[in-house]
Amino acid sequence: MSSASTAMIFILLLTTTTTLFFFPTTAAPPQSSFKKIYAFGDSFTDTGNTRSVGPGGGFGHVSNPPYGSTYFHRPTNRYSDGRLVIDFVTQSLSLPLLPPYRSLRDPRAARNGVNFAVGGATAIKHAFFAKNNLTLDNTPESIQTQLRWFDEFLAGQGCNGTASASAACGAAVEDALFWVGEIGVNDYAYILGSEISGDVIQRLSVATVTNFLEALLKRGAKNMVVQGLPPSGCLTLAMYLAPDDDRDELGCVRSANNQTSVHNSIYQSKLDGLRARYPEASIVYLDYWNAYRSVVRNPAKYGMKETFKACCGSGDAPYNFNVFATCGTPGAAAVCPDPAHYINWDGVHLTEGMYRVLADMFVNGTFSSPRFSTLLA
Ligand SMILES: *[C@@H]1O[C@H](CO)[C@@H](O)[C@H](O)[C@H]1NC(C)=O
Ligand SMILES: *[C@@H]1O[C@H](CO)[C@@H](O)[C@H](O)[C@H]1NC(C)=O
Ligand SMILES: *[C@@H]1O[C@H](CO)[C@@H](O)[C@H](O)[C@H]1NC(C)=O
Ligand SMILES: *[C@@H]1O[C@H](CO)[C@@H](O)[C@H](O)[C@H]1NC(C)=O
Repeated sequence: MSSASTAMIFILLLTTTTTLFFFPTTAAPPQSSFKKIYAFGDSFTDTGNTRSVGPGGGFGHVSNPPYGSTYFHRPTNRYSDGRLVIDFVTQSLSLPLLPPYRSLRDPRAARNGVNFAVGGATAIKHAFFAKNNLTLDNTPESIQTQLRWFDEFLAGQGCNGTASASAACGAAVEDALFWVGEIGVNDYAYILGSEISGDVIQRLSVATVTNFLEALLKRGAKNMVVQGLPPSGCLTLAMYLAPDDDRDELGCVRSANNQTSVHNSIYQSKLDGLRARYPEASIVYLDYWNAYRSVVRNPAKYGMKETFKACCGSGDAPYNFNVFATCGTPGAAAVCPDPAHYINWDGVHLTEGMYRVLADMFVNGTFSSPRFSTLLA
């Protein structure tokens, strides 16, 4: 693949209410004592921080219809037709949907939390990709940017190193759930077709995110939820790009899924280290990889019909996906009539229907360790 087409493809990664069928609902509706949620991550968690990347294709069309069409009935700069996992979790904890940090006018208005996640974000700092000529100038955000935004936010709350700060800092973080969404899929995506090895990315990104989590713990986070990586080889774009013989037993891209699976194992061992060093904090790991694969393995059980085909796309077989005519491209892409039955929305990101299923599996089901419900006790 030429570097031009690599760049074209990876600009992408910058970036209905459904009837529930047989869900593993084991918990009663959670009675939360959380008063606020601070969320971090990439486009899987971003509720509007993304800035449109403009011309160049890919997922820069998140500000156009049909993004948002299912629930909000207008684009909200969420990379989906509706709500994301974080939205379902927020609603199930009886809190209002999180405002995106970049459009927050008055920090004092953010009493129930803020979302710092931003589409295109990497774990590893932007300078690493810039140094290796692997970046596009429109995606300068990493998880460290989000830590900087969080510190700015805290300062705005009066948690700013002055004499009165410690009470303000306590008030800002107590009763807060820290939600660290999937972060790292973009790091692997940016190096495709380059000389940098996946092992280098794995080492750097796990270390960087672990440092980020520790920074939150040092700022007083007591309740933290951390998502592992999804099986990136089951995403439509990965299947579109990979050779047909690179497939696993579910029909997803074996090499990509292997990479995210190994990443998740190492990540979890780092979480054990943090649990040992910060015993007063609760750290729940969400198993995105196995939750997602359970749906692919048994779609009907979760109300799904299409596992790999994008709902919103160009019409090109077999994935309804064309890198040059992605969802939201005016006149070039159409939306399926039943998004609730599709896992994939635009080739990379998921439908509201899939996010609803996943949120339930994380919060009420068995794909959390320790169980999410232990945070609510
Ligand atoms: C990045 O691009 C510049 C200019 O084309 C070149 O001089 C430099 O060697 C490249 N760096 C790497 C790591 O490829
Ligand atoms: C710190 O926060 C307090 C309370 O909001 C504010 O009065 C003070 O001006 C802030 N100090 C600095 C240096 O920002
Ligand atoms: C995943 O990759 C690792 C290292 O490259 C290899 O040892 C392992 O067997 C692979 N696992 C699967 C399930 O393909
Ligand atoms: C968990 O289950 C309860 C009770 O069925 C439900 O109200 C809630 O929405 C579920 N939470 C999520 C995130 O799906």
